[in-house]
Amino acid sequence: MVKICCIGAGYVGGPTMAVIALHCPSIEVVVVDISVTRISAWNSDQLPIYEPGLNEVVKQCKGRNLFFSTDIEKHVSEADIIFVSVNTPTKTRGLGAGKAADLTYWESAARMIADVSKSNKIVVEKSTVPVKTAEAIERILTHNSKGIKYQILSNPEFLAEGTAIQDLFKPDRVLIGGRETPDGLKAIQALKDVYAHWVPEDRIITTNLWSAELSKLAANAFLAQRISSVNAMSALCEATGADVSQVSHAVGKDSRIGPKFLNASVGFGGSCFQKDILNLVYICECNGLAEVANYWKQVIKVNDYQKNRFVNRVVSSMFNTVSGKKIGIMGFAFKKDTGDTRETPAIDVCKGLLGDKARLSIYDPQVTADQIQRDLTMNKFDWDHPIHLQPMSPTGVKQVSIAWDAYEASKDAHALCILTEWDEFKTLDYRRIFDNMQKPAFVFDGRNVVNVEMLRDIGFIVYSIGKPLDPWLKNMPAVA
Ligand code: UDX
Ligand code: ADP
Repeated sequence: MVKICCIGAGYVGGPTMAVIALHCPSIEVVVVDISVTRISAWNSDQLPIYEPGLNEVVKQCKGRNLFFSTDIEKHVSEADIIFVSVNTPTKTRGLGAGKAADLTYWESAARMIADVSKSNKIVVEKSTVPVKTAEAIERILTHNSKGIKYQILSNPEFLAEGTAIQDLFKPDRVLIGGRETPDGLKAIQALKDVYAHWVPEDRIITTNLWSAELSKLAANAFLAQRISSVNAMSALCEATGADVSQVSHAVGKDSRIGPKFLNASVGFGGSCFQKDILNLVYICECNGLAEVANYWKQVIKVNDYQKNRFVNRVVSSMFNTVSGKKIGIMGFAFKKDTGDTRETPAIDVCKGLLGDKARLSIYDPQVTADQIQRDLTMNKFDWDHPIHLQPMSPTGVKQVSIAWDAYEASKDAHALCILTEWDEFKTLDYRRIFDNMQKPAFVFDGRNVVNVEMLRDIGFIVYSIGKPLDPWLKNMPAVA
């Protein structure tokens, strides 16, 4: 029986291994992690991450050929194929601070593999890591090899949270990079055989190691660039009276452009986009490609601009001050159908409003109160470490309270800010919400989910990203 071990039971490792176990009953899959609480949660009925469809998949194979364990060394030593899916935070100190990836966790995983291995291994890079990491890992392994042969593969993950199970069931492509030597090609084939249990062969692409690593950064940079492009357009739409949804629709009809990923928003978030672009920028700079680095940097700058612009809209609309005013925050996750808050635009928007002394009542159907407090007190870049190494927030932010539902968050509020496109925000009883708010009552829709006309008829003053401005907002400054 082929044995797979995955180091890191997070958003990538957990769902990916569950789907492999489901489709490959003849393979034993063990997911290991240094976090005891995470592994306990995987072994309970309350999984540590919220992902539609994940419960059902895990239920079908847990205990059959899918296991979660903290006995890392035992399972690594027994495995034929080891996936490494550990955190790769952005460095906060030293060379490349603020851009380059911190490979501490990757390196310690590689050294542990070298320490405990007694048989040949295929080591699969599954976290997003900068180009040429596989080479570094290869060096660590071969210099500590004790005669054991290691083959390093890069198999970047393209799943998006909220649709992870669907994405894993029917991937657009599976990418496997490896060495073009006989042993390298054999390792590529072994991993290909795993995916071939359910992925059509023409969707499994094989490349050299560097191409696979760079493709992952490139794909995320292209996706993020589309959002920054449409968000830049949204500012122009507001200034000129065009409607960004109509513009996106018209632009997306061009089959060369396509309709996906053209929704204007308060900004993109998630664990990958910003981090991957920063990595790309760093790699370009290291290769003396300043113009290319600046080109990609701009994608992040526009994203920051979009979040600032949103905060400024809120403050300037409300008589230039939100001091002491209650603002209901609808949604904190970086997108719907996930409880993940990594790099969510809500963090910067909330911090911006708190900076102007607002009182916030935050509601999200999946994010815990503890996570929100942690996010609002944590420093930039500190989020991407194993949870037990993250700084605690002993006090929390006083002006922030967490609400159980949207109605509680909006009660007596002066304004609502919709920051995640949860479906339930489309069908709230906005008449009831209006009646319980201070007047004038504002809605700032950062995700274009509400029916603007209907809300205006109720009496709200409504701001929607990239839409023709409410008369109230005209002539008010949007950019500081
Ligand atoms: C992304 C990539 O899509 C995935 O392939 C990669 O493996 C990991 O990074 P993820 O971050 O989980 O996935 O979610 P994604 O759906 O890409 O959304 C990222 C952010 O962009 C979210 O904040 C989302 O709200 C925002 N977004 C997306 C927009 O603002 N507008 C859009 O049109 C699409
Ligand atoms: P991703 O979104 O890439 O899956 P996560 O942060 O959700 O990222 O998951 C990474 C996981 O890796 C965390 O659960 C963390 O505890 C685990 N981890 C980090 N370093 C190690 C290590 N050396 N050995 C085992 N697990 C590790």
